Amino acid sequence: MNPTVVDHIGIAVKSIEESLEFWEGAMGIKCHGIEEVQEQKVRTAFLPVEDTEIELLEPTAEDSPVARFIEKKGEGIHHIAIRVDDIEKALADLKEKGVRLIDEVPRLGAGGCRIAFVHPKASGGVLLEISERPIEQK
Ligand code: CO
Repeated sequence: MNPTVVDHIGIAVKSIEESLEFWEGAMGIKCHGIEEVQEQKVRTAFLPVEDTEIELLEPTAEDSPVARFIEKKGEGIHHIAIRVDDIEKALADLKEKGVRLIDEVPRLGAGGCRIAFVHPKASGGVLLEISERPIEQK
């Protein structure tokens, strides 16, 4: 396991466009693209700040996990993502240490990243994403 940087912080929002009024308009952090991740039923917007990004997550369906999150807790921080060089190795390490995982196998996230979630019960109530960037971005 070789964590390199806080890759991004995911924030659940009802509307990306409305949120951008604050993040771009007031904070001056420019969005570098909006992408739909169909598997997770969300639209995502990434706003880079140096090596870390703010990821805005807007649900695209009522049964989206992000819609359920907003229903229960309201808008706010949804997950923290830690970047690793080798996600298979990271997951194998965590499994060996008995850490409860949501994803035992990586899946495809926004921007071509391969991601997996650690169960919040294992990480002090924080939904933790492990993320490996596609080769061309490493
Ligand atoms: Co994320």
